[in-house]
Amino acid sequence: EVYRASTYAPVNIAVIKYWGKKNVELNTPTNSSLSVTLSQDDLRTHTTALCSVETAKDSLTLNGKDQDISGARTQACFRELRALRKELESKDASLPKLADMKLKIVSENNFPTAAGLASSAAGFAALVRAIANLYQLPSSPADLSRIARQGSGSACRSLFGGYSAWEQGSQADGSDSAAYEVAPASHWPEMRAAILVASAEKKDVSSTAGMQLTVATSPLFQERIKNVVPKRMKAMEKAVHDRDFESFAALTMKDSNNFHACCMDTFPPIFYMNSTSHAAIRLCDAINAAADKTVCAYTFDAGPNAVVYYLAENETQVAGAIKAVLGDKTGWEDKRGQSIKAAGTPLPNTEAATETLKKGISRVILTSVGDGPRKTDQH
Ligand code: DP6
Repeated sequence: EVYRASTYAPVNIAVIKYWGKKNVELNTPTNSSLSVTLSQDDLRTHTTALCSVETAKDSLTLNGKDQDISGARTQACFRELRALRKELESKDASLPKLADMKLKIVSENNFPTAAGLASSAAGFAALVRAIANLYQLPSSPADLSRIARQGSGSACRSLFGGYSAWEQGSQADGSDSAAYEVAPASHWPEMRAAILVASAEKKDVSSTAGMQLTVATSPLFQERIKNVVPKRMKAMEKAVHDRDFESFAALTMKDSNNFHACCMDTFPPIFYMNSTSHAAIRLCDAINAAADKTVCAYTFDAGPNAVVYYLAENETQVAGAIKAVLGDKTGWEDKRGQSIKAAGTPLPNTEAATETLKKGISRVILTSVGDGPRKTDQH
């Protein structure tokens, strides 16, 4: 008999960034972080976990390609989930002995892998959720987030929908370093995101290596974790609870800037943003200036893509202005993208940014805040 379970898991994009490991083995962070989970209708990993007595070895394929699973991180996820299954089996002798069988994991992303689109977050969240479903574990999303964290830090936040945070924790064994829900998507469903894809190339410094170099060499980073992030975490939670977009946006942009300043302060420096990213910042500045209030907020992860958050009521002002700059020739393949009308006359002081963006942006993905992992089948 073959046992199987499948799930979708979402991407999340942090507005207060995780950058820095306190304990590399446990993958605990130097600071707490907070993110928005994006809709699985647009971006997602789909993962099926299978096992049977005939399965010869543990394996994982991503988009049809065999992945190396010998690394400590994937192994930690397998080990912890198997231990939980063993516990269930030891209490109930009628349960099939799944913990002793090898696992076959089949994953598909519907977006470019490792282009700075948080693929490891959705990937490990889906892997952990799919195996937990296969094993019929009673574990809560918070419990599973602790396991997913060991696969990839940002993955722990993708076990929740809406607005989710990763509490850094203080226990030496990492047992309190887990994600929690700040607010569900339904609390503030008007949140939208435009992802300006600047490059589908694999990034040159992985976030794992980059952040360790930052911790080791950047004095600015020490200031960030001591005095900057703790205050921002509190303020960001409040902004989400109050649905206060102006505060949310200011904190989002400042935290992205501070994170990339720490990358620049790393020695040798790390560059994730490029001239296209800088042009995207200028465009957001111009959109906000023209609106005479903050209607959009940019943020950048470990890559050049811009993620621009805005509220549904300002879609024309924000997405329309982006479309006015990029025109229709850039991919706006999805239904929502096609329905956007290019907004009005060109904004003042955006000529240089416009040229750069036209050259540098290959695709725009319009999406919104969304729910947590979704089970797709099980038997
Ligand atoms: C810039 O979660 O990819 O996206 O724990 O080493 O797998 P590992 O790192 P990863 O780092 C993500 C960094 C970030 C910010 C964030 O998502 O909070």
